[in-house]
Order: sequence, then C-alpha cells, then structure tokens
Amino acid sequence: MADTEDERYDFVVVANRLPVDRVVAHDGSPSWKPSPGGLVTALEPVMRANTGAWIGWTGVADDHQEPFDADGMHLVPVPLSAEAVELYYEGFSNDTIWPLYHDVIAQPTYSRRFWEAYVAVNRQFAEAAAAVAAEGGTVWVQDYQLQLVPRMLRELRPDLVIGFFNHIPFPAYGLFSQLPWRREIVEGLLGADLIGFQRRADAGNFLRAVRRIFHVQTARGQVELPAAGQGSWPNSMSDRPRTVVARHFPISIDAKAYVALVERQDVRDRAAQIRHDLGDPTTIMLGVDRLDYTKGIQHRFAAYAELLAEGKLDVDDTVLVQIASPSRERVETYKSLRDEIELTVGRVNGEYGTIAHSAINYLHHGYPREEMVALFLAADVMLVTALRDGMNLVAKEYVATRADDDGVLVLSEFAGAADELKQALLVNPHDIEGLKRAMLSAVHMSRAERRTRMRALRHRVLVHDVERWSKDFLDALAALRPTESARAAA
Ligand code: G6P
Repeated sequence: MADTEDERYDFVVVANRLPVDRVVAHDGSPSWKPSPGGLVTALEPVMRANTGAWIGWTGVADDHQEPFDADGMHLVPVPLSAEAVELYYEGFSNDTIWPLYHDVIAQPTYSRRFWEAYVAVNRQFAEAAAAVAAEGGTVWVQDYQLQLVPRMLRELRPDLVIGFFNHIPFPAYGLFSQLPWRREIVEGLLGADLIGFQRRADAGNFLRAVRRIFHVQTARGQVELPAAGQGSWPNSMSDRPRTVVARHFPISIDAKAYVALVERQDVRDRAAQIRHDLGDPTTIMLGVDRLDYTKGIQHRFAAYAELLAEGKLDVDDTVLVQIASPSRERVETYKSLRDEIELTVGRVNGEYGTIAHSAINYLHHGYPREEMVALFLAADVMLVTALRDGMNLVAKEYVATRADDDGVLVLSEFAGAADELKQALLVNPHDIEGLKRAMLSAVHMSRAERRTRMRALRHRVLVHDVERWSKDFLDALAALRPTESARAAA
C-alpha cells in the first residue's frame, strides 16, 4: 500500500524493464506497449494483486520519464544513458551473463568496461528502490541484470526484507568460475534474504558456488552469514548474523487468463482461420521463441528438414510455423543468429517447398496474446527445443490453451519446464535422430494418448500457476522477516 505523503510503498518490484515499453512512432508520438519476455507476463498479475511500485527501464536510451500509474501499478522509470544500454544491458547482461548462464552456448565476452557499467547501473536501481520502499517494506529484485542490487540495497536500507528471483539458469561452478567477478556476483546475491531459482539444480549450483568461493558449509539450502567481517566474508555484508535461503520456485503463467481467451469465439474462429490460411494441412507444427541462440531453433529446423528429405513428412500435408520475435538486435551474436536462421529458412523452403506450400512459415514479429492463443489452438504439435532455458513459459502457455485436451508438446529436457511437464515428449535437442523420432511420434500419436498426456499437463499448469508461484515465494520471504525482538536485539 502507498503512503501518499512521501510516495513510499510496502511492496516494490525491481526489474530491468518496466512492464511496459515506451515506443515512439515515426511521427514522434509516444505510446506504451507490453514489454517483451516472460518476466512481465509472470509479474504483472502479482503487481495487480499487491498495490506496489515497479522500478525499471522504459526500453529507450536517455529517456527521462516521471513516475506514473498504469493499470493499478505505480511505475518508476530508471533512465539509462545510451552508453549504459550498450555496456550494461547489451554488454554485461546479454553478452556476458546471458551466454555464461546458458552453459556457454555462445562465447561470453569478459570486459572490464562492461563490468564497471553493470556495477554503476545496479547502484542506480538500488538507489531508486531505497528511495521508494517504505520502512520495513518488501523488495523483490528480478533477474540476472540486477544481481548486485540485493547487497547494495541492504547496505542502503538494512530495514528491508529483500527477495531475489533468478529467471534464467544458474550454471555449474565449472562454468560460473570463468567469471572474473564471480565473487562480487555471489556477494551481491547474498544481500537478499531469499534467493529463488527455477530448478532445484540451479539452487544447487548457486550453493556450490557459495561453498567454493567462501570455503563454508551450507545445509538444506541455507547459508549462515556471520556478523560483519568474520572469516572470508566481506565486511559490509551484515551487522548481525543472517541466514540466506536459496531454493527453487518454478515460475508459471496466468493460466486462467489463457483459459478465458480459449473460451472466446473470436479466438477460436481465428484458430480455424489460421489453419485454413495455411492450406488446411493435416499437421501444423509450431515454434514460438524470442530469436535467441538458447532456443534451439536451428536444431528444430535441422530435424524437420531431414524428415522432409527422408519423405517421412510431406509439405503437402504438414507445415512448420516459426514465430521468432525480435530480440536484442544490436548484440552481434543475435545479429548473426538471425542471418543464419533466415538462411536456413530460405534453404529449406527452396529445397522442399512447392508453389502451393512452404515448408517453414517464418515470421519475425511479436504478436498480441489473442493471436498467440489462436496459434496454440491451431497447432497440433508444439516444438520447444531449447538448448538451455530457465523455464520456458511458452510450453506452459500452449498447455494452458489446450482446453480441448488435444495437441502434443515436444519439450527439451534442458528447459526448466521439463522438471514439471513430464507427460510431454521429452527430447535432447542435440540428438537430431531422437528429435526426429519425437516429432514423428507427435504427428502419429493416437487421440487417446494425446488426451491422457494433455490432461495431466494441464492439471499441473492450472494448479501451479503464477499466482501460486508468487505466493510461495512471498510467503517464504515473509517467514524470513526478522521478528521485532530480533531487530531490537541487533
Ligand atoms: C528473458 C529474461 C528477462 C528478459 C526477457 C526479454 O525472459 O529472463 O529478464 O526481460 O528475456 O529480454 P530483453 O533483453 O528484451 O529484456
């Protein structure tokens, strides 16, 4: 709740992006649109339920906006200079941490300039949070762009209860230890009371990094921090002993919102229209991803092309629709990925397409949720073949949409969703033969088996929705709040 006198909030979310992005049209007129990625989808309903403040960037460099209210949320823009966007966002966040945390699928860049900008921008976010959080309030810091914020914020505001959630994987120590600033990152995170991860394995990797860097023991997901300056711990970590908990809290989606959309006749009509526009094929396969090298889009295309080459699939009755939404387009690795993918699409279509039918229907756009739901409804087979993915909410969105208990989900075991969605056809996307077998099984699966699998998947997603995720996290965080007597004694 807001204290109107000085605009302080009991509940504050800190994320790299605001839930809306500022877009400026060619004629210079500004407007707001939902910002990309799973984080916003996951947190928006939480924010609506708890009147609170959300601190983040508008997505535009050098954009100095006043705080404003939108859809029951108080939004506090953090301005980033063009240089900060280049070095902190495109650089350290998306050219160092992103590839490193996704198992070095692409080579991370270790640059001291990137690091310095990351420290400076994390401080900017920490100061913004310190300025709006009410006394004893709760601050929930999100994702890999802001790993130093928990510690910086604790130093500024020791009265706060601080949670951190890492939406992407946390790598094994053998990889994490490449990072020249590994110690600073772990110290940054340990400023939180509760650190949430997507998978049990991610929490395990983080705890191992703590043990290796600080030469301490951890037990049952807990790190016992001694008071200031003892042992190998940093001086300003805390003025009293503290317990930090690291656990997995698999994120989910607003499943009810998807169910509500499927019930809309216009959405169903659109699904039928999509099938018709594609030439009424027997099988529609679908991939929906940000255009990112972690998503295994090339592996999916390779398997599909081989099935066409071997005559096991035929473009006369099958089509693969690939939605690749534009992402991080100024980062070199993303630019070359786009070139590679578009070259592959051209080759596959040139080789196997006919006048009447393309093999791959490739769309480099983002679409509104209604259109996505219509596509999910139309898709007989959903292909999620990520090489590494924190969760992959698209897999859950597909399942939530299939109120008809139909459709087959092919899901990479390297996506966090695989820990929960066990009735999907689980694949190792590096194993092209295995991927081809799974795609064929999906195409030929009986209606009875499709129904049995989808029912079980839907049960999981409908029960474990995003509301449950945030409640689980925030309840666990509240349980760690020091009692008044402990505070007084400190
Ligand atoms: C992933 C990350 C989010 C990020 C999103 C979109 O889902 O976990 O933190 O916002 O990708 O990426 P972008 O770089 O456009 O914010």
